[in-house]
Formats: sequence, C-alpha cells, structure tokens
Amino acid sequence: MEHTPVLLNEALHWLNPRRDGVYVDATVGGGGHAEAILERIIPGGRLIGIDRDEVAVEAAAARLARFGEAVVLVRQNYAAIKEVLRTLGLDQVDGVLFDLGASSMQFADPTRGFSFQEGGPLDMRMDRRQPVTAADLVNRLGERELADLIWRYGEERWSRRIARAIAGSRPIHTTQALAEVVAGSIPRRQWPRGIHPATRTFQALRIATNDELLNLEKALPDAAEVLREAGRLCAMTFHSLEDRTIKHTFLRLSRGCTCPPGASACTCGGKQWLRILTKKPVLPSPEEVQRNPRARSAKLRAAERIVTTA
Ligand SMILES: C[S@@+](CC[C@H](N)C(=O)[O-])C[C@H]1O[C@@H](n2cnc3c(N)ncnc32)[C@H](O)[C@@H]1O
Repeated sequence: MEHTPVLLNEALHWLNPRRDGVYVDATVGGGGHAEAILERIIPGGRLIGIDRDEVAVEAAAARLARFGEAVVLVRQNYAAIKEVLRTLGLDQVDGVLFDLGASSMQFADPTRGFSFQEGGPLDMRMDRRQPVTAADLVNRLGERELADLIWRYGEERWSRRIARAIAGSRPIHTTQALAEVVAGSIPRRQWPRGIHPATRTFQALRIATNDELLNLEKALPDAAEVLREAGRLCAMTFHSLEDRTIKHTFLRLSRGCTCPPGASACTCGGKQWLRILTKKPVLPSPEEVQRNPRARSAKLRAAERIVTTA
C-alpha cells in the first residue's frame, strides 16, 4: 500500500523549497513529500532522505529513482541527523521536514505488528535491527510500569485496568490477542467513540517500542542547529503528545537566554535559534480529511532559523 502524503501543499508552502537548495526529509517513508520537494529543487538541489525502516528506504528509493544523484537515502534514526549530515560532508541545510508517526505501509503490513485490524506478531519496531519488540514490553514489564506506559503514551484513562488484564493473560504474542484483552478490560459502555478500544494502548506501545518522543526531543534542536540562516523547520504530528513536544521545543528554541533580567552574564546557555512561523498549528482542509481519513488528526508547525545581523 502506498502512503498518501498528508498536508502536502501546506508542507511545501512552509518549507518553501528553492531551486539549488539542500533539504532533509527526516522521515522519508514512501517518498511522497520527498518527491514533491525534489520537483521544486532540481536541477542543482539535493534531498537527504532519512528513515530507520529498511522497507521505507527501499520504497523511497524506487519512487525517487528518476532523480538520480539529487537524492541520498540513509537508513538511520533521525536523532542522528547531525552525524548523517557530517558523514555526507554537509554542515548546513536549507530545510528539514519531519512527518512523524508510522506510515500507511507499516500499518498495512500485518507482519509488522502495528495494527490490530489483522492478526500479526506483536512487533511494532520501525527499525527491525533493534532488539526490543512490543511483545517484550507487554510480556516483561511489571503491571505498574505497563499501566504507567499506557497512561503516559496513550493518554488512556483505563490504563490500570488494561495493565491488570494484560498481566493476567500473559504471554501475549499477537496483535489480535492483545486487542481482545484490551477491549475486554474496558466496560463496553465506556468504549471510545469512532476508534477501536485498543487504539490508545497500541499507540502507547508503539511510542515506547520506538522511543519516539525521546528521539524527537533529541532531533529537533539538532535540526535547528544544522539549518542555514532563514532555513525552515517543519514538523507534522498525528497526536497531542508529539504536537506538544514540537510546540514546547519550538518555544524553547525561539526564546533564547532565560537568565533573570539584570544577570551580569548568561549562565543558562540558551541560544535563540528559531522564529516561530505558525502561531497556531496548520490543519488539513475538510476536503483532505474526506479524501484521506488518516489526515484528520494531522497538525503542522513551522519555524525559521534566526537571521543574525553582523
Ligand atoms: C508518516 S511516515 C512518512 C511518510 C512520508 N512523508 C511520505 O510521504 O511517504 C513516517 C516515517 O518516519 C519513520 N520514522 C519514525 N521515527 C523515525 C526515527 N526516529 N528515525 C527515522 N525514521 C523514523 C517511519 O519509519 C516512517 O516511515
């Protein structure tokens, strides 16, 4: 299944790719956004596409083959963006795009374990070289730790009941078995409207298995640092935890020094890297949501690297 790029026109508007520019798609996935960026930057421009999933890198390579040497694809965690660029001999770029979360390709493949629509192994690793799977978390964590994880990363108010039910049904090895345990632990009258009762638990396990928020917290300041002056940073998110992380990190990076007024010297080390361009997150149009229901929870935020006047 091909991944339909979300908020494509909006991402292009805010990233504002220019001919000859060097851009990083930090979550290249199936290459949808990357393709549209490349169309605007060639000839002369270059796109570095990063993804930690080998299947995504292969899909992007096939889709972007016609751009030849204008594309470099790297299988890596975007938390290593600085090292990736250093290895390629680049210290600055004109823009970085993050389109967060899992792709339709990952959700659609039952062997990856992201979805409970079809049975599959409880895996959820974006990078299958990494040792810990969702099954390891489900079967090895203490009940309390599991409840905390489901609460923190799934914002699931039934986390304690769910963790108790999981602990009482272990070992659990398939997505369907887990979805049934979770659904059975929430009173039917309290099932959320419009989503499967296991959706939040699956989200929590996916975030934890892939360390998604920690990677993002590391990657955003590094991405801001590698931007050229007036270079753009755009991030698209699909749930409130990611959006909060983007919003707070952009705010912190736009604030600079937070030492008390009148301090004789800066001791906080805070540097003003960014100017926020989108005061409120940009949302998809109703037409896009109708065309692609996956877009319904998407939000885009953009910022620009501060221009320092000498
Ligand atoms: C929503 S998809 C991107 C889709 C892409 N924009 C397109 O148009 O096809 C997100 C991608 O980010 C990748 N990803 C998530 N976290 C990552 C990380 N920490 N490092 C590198 N890639 C990551 C996933 O493997 C997935 O392929």
